[in-house]
Amino acid sequence: MSLNRILELRKLLEQYNYEYHTLDKPSVSDAEYDRLMNELIALEKANPQIDSSNSPTQRVGGKVLDAFNKITHKRPMLSLANAYNEDDLINFDKRVKELANVTNVEYVCEPKIDGLAVSLHYQNGNLAYGVTRGDGSVGEDITNNLKTIKQIPISITELKDIEVRGEVYMSRETFKELNSQKQKNKEELFANARNAAAGSVRQLDSKIAASRKLSNYIYSLANYQDFNFRTHSEILDFLKRQKFSVTKIYKVCKNINEVISYIKEFEKVRNTLDFDTDGVVVKVNDLKLYKEIGFTAKTPRWATAFKFPAEEVVTKLTNIIFSVGRTGKVTPNAVLEPVFVAGTTVQRATLHNEQFVLDKDIRIGDFVVIRKAGEIIPEVVKPLLEKRTGQEIKFEMISECPICNSPISKINDEAAHYCLNPKCDKKNIEKIIHFASRDAMDIDGLGEKIIEEFYNLGYLKNITDIYLLYQHKDELLKLEGFGEKSISNLLSAIEKSKQNSLERLIFGLGIDEIGAKSSKVLAKRFLSLDSLRQTNVDDFLKVKDFGEVMAESLVLYFKDPENLETLNKLVGFGVNSKFLGTTEVDQNSFFYNKTVVITGSLTTYGRNELTIILENKGATVTTSVTKNTDILIAGEEAGSKLDKANKLGIKVINEEELLTLLK
Ligand code: IVH
Repeated sequence: MSLNRILELRKLLEQYNYEYHTLDKPSVSDAEYDRLMNELIALEKANPQIDSSNSPTQRVGGKVLDAFNKITHKRPMLSLANAYNEDDLINFDKRVKELANVTNVEYVCEPKIDGLAVSLHYQNGNLAYGVTRGDGSVGEDITNNLKTIKQIPISITELKDIEVRGEVYMSRETFKELNSQKQKNKEELFANARNAAAGSVRQLDSKIAASRKLSNYIYSLANYQDFNFRTHSEILDFLKRQKFSVTKIYKVCKNINEVISYIKEFEKVRNTLDFDTDGVVVKVNDLKLYKEIGFTAKTPRWATAFKFPAEEVVTKLTNIIFSVGRTGKVTPNAVLEPVFVAGTTVQRATLHNEQFVLDKDIRIGDFVVIRKAGEIIPEVVKPLLEKRTGQEIKFEMISECPICNSPISKINDEAAHYCLNPKCDKKNIEKIIHFASRDAMDIDGLGEKIIEEFYNLGYLKNITDIYLLYQHKDELLKLEGFGEKSISNLLSAIEKSKQNSLERLIFGLGIDEIGAKSSKVLAKRFLSLDSLRQTNVDDFLKVKDFGEVMAESLVLYFKDPENLETLNKLVGFGVNSKFLGTTEVDQNSFFYNKTVVITGSLTTYGRNELTIILENKGATVTTSVTKNTDILIAGEEAGSKLDKANKLGIKVINEEELLTLLK
């Protein structure tokens, strides 16, 4: 009896929710909605044996995680090539027609919503899990937070497995409310709605995520090939029928001229919408053509993003100051009278190097034109010569490092000046910051300010000191602003970073010319730090896209005795020096295509390490046991997850069996 009522209430509440949040047409009063919701909450509480993981009651959040699980995308999440003007669009159309070997192509235009891309997986009509884009191949499991977004259906009528993709964003209105609340509480404000959405979706406490009132638009069906749709617009119709929130302002355009007209019209209304957009996405409508048109390494060739020209504003340049980076590069920066541009207030802009300032003849006191390159980094376009009074001060490059006062100079043919003092404090601090940063060792809680403070206190002089920080625990506890909890979180984040795969370590070392992408290529190819150390220039040159400068920089790095000492120390502290992924998924593996949950403590593997290993075998690793779970790996002292798996009849394997299966 109560089961029936529970199911009835869930259905009803989801329908009301859909009418209110997606259709914008509520059919019941808020009071009636609350009354039914309270009834459901009470019934679920009284009947805990009934699974409520996909109930509308979960939309208020509640689950608090220690960390997000990493999930490998079943299909990579690509990005889009850009078009900036009509010519670019016409060339795009020309190339599409050539590749598809047709004389005319129909397109669909959609607003390019400025939020975060997410992938949602529905199995058997239920939202099974949702993942951030991450680096395009591996994202984070943010299912609990996504369930709090009212426009994301928890269940759908389509029973085939589907993966839909879309954008999570914060409406302009919600963003304004949130920031004014933060202002009242004297908290730091979010720079723009996109950052606010990003910060909210990655909250470990789903109640906080729920309170941020995020929104969502779905714009694609990733596994459309499992269906018989002919066009992208048919997919959008299907998504609407499944009650996803689909933009109402998309348009099917008969040819590229109609696309251009759409963009012109769109630009007029862009600022009246309740969400930020940075352009229009143009997609080929006929799905049959996708295969022929194909992909580049990172983007599909059948779509492009038209980007609106960056907004430009004028402000006064009041000073030029210098900063020193990890490599010792000394960069001039403009200090500006605060000005609002493309969603944020700008007070600084890079002036790159001496030559840049001289070429543009930028002077202190000038009125300058500012814009944001790629909508993110503010840049000075030019000074307004007509506004000069004669009082402006000509720029002069400094000759000493602003931090350590050692002489600075240009090296090779570069335009930049460098501080050549290897002991320069700023350089050292920046190196540690880089090592701990998100794309490198990703040590949560070890941010710029803390690193600088610890450096000045002598606890962190170089990257190896990070792994000795625990020795200073008692002293750290005495510092203002640190408590038992924050220090123990920091120390466990440091401990956790030891399990990172090799590419993070390589990137973290900050080897000249070696960025995050090349680090990944190196890790995949050479598999261990040991083999990297023994590689010569010729062998590095065999790696695709590696040139001489990169190869030489690597060899030079691994020759330096000081670097070798650093590496030995890191490995000695237990930092992993092996590549933990594989490139090809083994379709014969027992774990291929299975949804796996790990629980309890294991002796052979760390949780992260095992997750990567399983994902490379084609498994999806999630955090909670549901009826969609295929396998539970239960270590020692497994608790409620094991009970639940047994109840649901899910296959459970222990560590010994795991090891046999992995062989
Ligand atoms: S389609 C292959 N449609 O733009 C990628 N993307 O630069 C297909 N975005 O990561 C994406 N609105 O986060 C598509 N209507 C829309 C979009 C959209 C925003 C974002 C998305 C993606 C990025 C690509």
